[in-house]
Amino acid sequence: MNPFAVLHKYYDPASELYRLLVIHSLLVAKKALDLAAAYEVRHPEEAVDREFIAEAALLHDLGIFRCRKPEIFCAGGEPYVSHGLIGREILEAEGLPRHALVCERHTGAGITEEEVLRKRLPLPARDYLPVAIEEKVICLADKFYSKSPDRLFREKPLEEIRASLARWGPEVTGRFEELRRLFLPGA
Ligand SMILES: [Fe+2]
Repeated sequence: MNPFAVLHKYYDPASELYRLLVIHSLLVAKKALDLAAAYEVRHPEEAVDREFIAEAALLHDLGIFRCRKPEIFCAGGEPYVSHGLIGREILEAEGLPRHALVCERHTGAGITEEEVLRKRLPLPARDYLPVAIEEKVICLADKFYSKSPDRLFREKPLEEIRASLARWGPEVTGRFEELRRLFLPGA
């Protein structure tokens, strides 16, 4: 499948939002593929679907156009935290259920049902945790890049990612470290 064909159904390729989304998504794809390649060297017995990682990384933030975040040109009405769920709904309707799960499971270090309820997040109460190895590596790679126009190309150091996740609580940082250990065991 061609992820750009899907993106172009929902985004104007001449828009500022599309530019941010595609640069961000390509950087996340590159990072995810690098992490996956190193993982495969350590785990030669495990199959990792690199073609799928490249496609799904390009689509992981597809839902942002329906959300409200003016600083990154998102002019929709939904809360930003819903962008993963929105992406899932769109990709399921597009006949891409496996890519759809990457959208739904990439936010933060995943979100648990307990957190949805306790933090009163505007999401149906269930788990949104990365399960497949491809879902996990995209979730982790995404944390290295911002969509802020002034920091788009900059890879965040681990310490900066940790500091920004800390405000969401120890469960979130704990899950991040689990992902980090899986793909960056020495870091
Ligand atoms: Fe992202």
